[in-house]
Amino acid sequence: MKLVVLTGAGISAESGLRTFRGNNGLWENEKIEDVATPEGYYRDKARVRNFYNSLRVGLPNYKPNAAHFALAKLEERLGDDFLLVTQNVDDLHERAGSKRVLHMHGALKQLRCEANESHVFNFDGEETAETKCPFCGAPTRPHIVWFGEIPLYMDKIENALLHTKEFAYIGTSSVVYPAAGFKQLAKHYKAHVTCLNLEVDREDRNTDAFLEGKASEVVPTWCENFK
Ligand code: APR
Repeated sequence: MKLVVLTGAGISAESGLRTFRGNNGLWENEKIEDVATPEGYYRDKARVRNFYNSLRVGLPNYKPNAAHFALAKLEERLGDDFLLVTQNVDDLHERAGSKRVLHMHGALKQLRCEANESHVFNFDGEETAETKCPFCGAPTRPHIVWFGEIPLYMDKIENALLHTKEFAYIGTSSVVYPAAGFKQLAKHYKAHVTCLNLEVDREDRNTDAFLEGKASEVVPTWCENFK
């Protein structure tokens, strides 16, 4: 494995999608405990379904930016030596041409069965209490990993970090684990670690290189020069 990339909400910021923290962040209007925890969901399913319905239905209004396209091109060039992991639940990586994207926090354009978490299916539109799992007929829930739940694909991600030569994290505040700990794991396994972010913490001991700036500006150049 030559390169593992982790992206966060910051890569989609210039596409117009709100990030979670920082000015006008999503968590300024909505409380995490109300719309991003299992407890919030079982307390008020309609409210949580509608929160994700509005994000899902709004997706076509937002277009991938140069950073998404650059990562898709890099995947084409590196093939199986490249792994893209995203914390994002939007579909901008796929719409930019990325073929293999591990959505470790789930995806807006999928739903999950309430009764069997392996029943996951593509879904567009508005989920309601009448939406049923196509596999078993049980009610559904957003296919989003909420706080207190285990992120997806952790075995694949950890294995990739064990063997990768380079790890880069793009557009993430690195405050939510386990994603925030990937750079430490990569560093522990002797990878070279690069941060590409609007704001960087140059004191970070687990990062070797810092590219400070907007994703659409710093990511394409970094991808083109990646060997
Ligand atoms: N280019 C690059 N980076 C940017 C840009 C930009 N145009 N705009 C903002 N950023 C950076 C911010 O400086 C910040 O470090 O993107 C980061 C966004 O941080 P968050 O809003 O915390 O998003 P993220 O790190 O993806 O959140 C992680 O938290 O709420 C959960 O599940 C949710 O996946 C999310 C997780």
